[in-house]
Amino acid sequence: MQNAASSALVVAGWHRMSYTYEDSNLISQELETHIRKIHAIVGNAVTHKRFIVFGAGSTQLLNAAVHALSPDNSSSPARVVASIPFYPLYEKQTVYFQSADFQFEGDISVWKNSSDTSMKLVEFVTAPNNPDGQMNKAVLKGPNTKPIHDHAYYWPHYTPITAPADGNLMIFTTSKLTGHAGSRFGWAVIKDQSVYQKMKRNIRVWTQHNEEPLGKLSNTISLSNRFTLQQIPPQYCTFSHKVRASSPAFAWVKCGREEDINCYEVLKAAKIIGRAGRIFQGEDEYVRLSLLRSQDDFDLLIHRLSKLVSEENGPKTM
Ligand SMILES: Cc1ncc(COP(=O)(O)O)c(C=O)c1O
Repeated sequence: MQNAASSALVVAGWHRMSYTYEDSNLISQELETHIRKIHAIVGNAVTHKRFIVFGAGSTQLLNAAVHALSPDNSSSPARVVASIPFYPLYEKQTVYFQSADFQFEGDISVWKNSSDTSMKLVEFVTAPNNPDGQMNKAVLKGPNTKPIHDHAYYWPHYTPITAPADGNLMIFTTSKLTGHAGSRFGWAVIKDQSVYQKMKRNIRVWTQHNEEPLGKLSNTISLSNRFTLQQIPPQYCTFSHKVRASSPAFAWVKCGREEDINCYEVLKAAKIIGRAGRIFQGEDEYVRLSLLRSQDDFDLLIHRLSKLVSEENGPKTM
């Protein structure tokens, strides 16, 4: 703060930035170097031989981490847990980005003494913790438990730095380092290359949001006599100076059969979890499906929907 008045962050007017850099990475080498440098100066994290992923605040990375540490397309989703008291966003975000691969379970104490070591668990470990400032440590042990070390506050102005943190997956943010929460600047330090690749892929999907999802979904639903989708006519866009289709974040699906009294239940039976129309004061014949999901989740949604549509006239016999 000593030089606050004389410091500045300047972006030249000619400077352009793509989503990616020459090496097709989402983070510049320069930024990566500076992140490693600040950890070396502060001594709060090991970054040697670690991968670094940049995200829109640590919030985005926390969810990318849950995705990356959960099994893909497994019949038993990972349970996401934390020690009480924990930062409420862990629950809110995990529930919001509902997935077949994980579910929020909350209180870790239920699992602490569990003899079932086959259960896949993702544990948020927050040090220092929000709200109580404790230097939490991972509670769960075992091959199927994966911690996410949230070190948002592991900086000397909040806590003594006792040793460089060396977790497999650690998350930091400038929100708490310098107080620039609105700039949405977070990063993850990751040991394992496969986890790094998965995190990178998740962030890439969310960063490069495109117009494809509703189109793909509507191709699948167009083969159905049972389900329909909202129709949003293309309109002239004064911003892009052309007629263009909408790319909504949600599909508003309608079940058309008389016997489909509750569309949410119909889709749920096919392992497609949406939000019932009634949550939005709509009718039970509607369900909202989120299109803002990772590529894997979206592919799974299309797969399950295609199966449901193909069985409309009774299950197929091979
Ligand atoms: C423990 C913890 N982690 C993460 C965050 C979110 O940080 P960001 O602004 O980087 O998304 C907060 C914000 O309050 C927090 O308390």
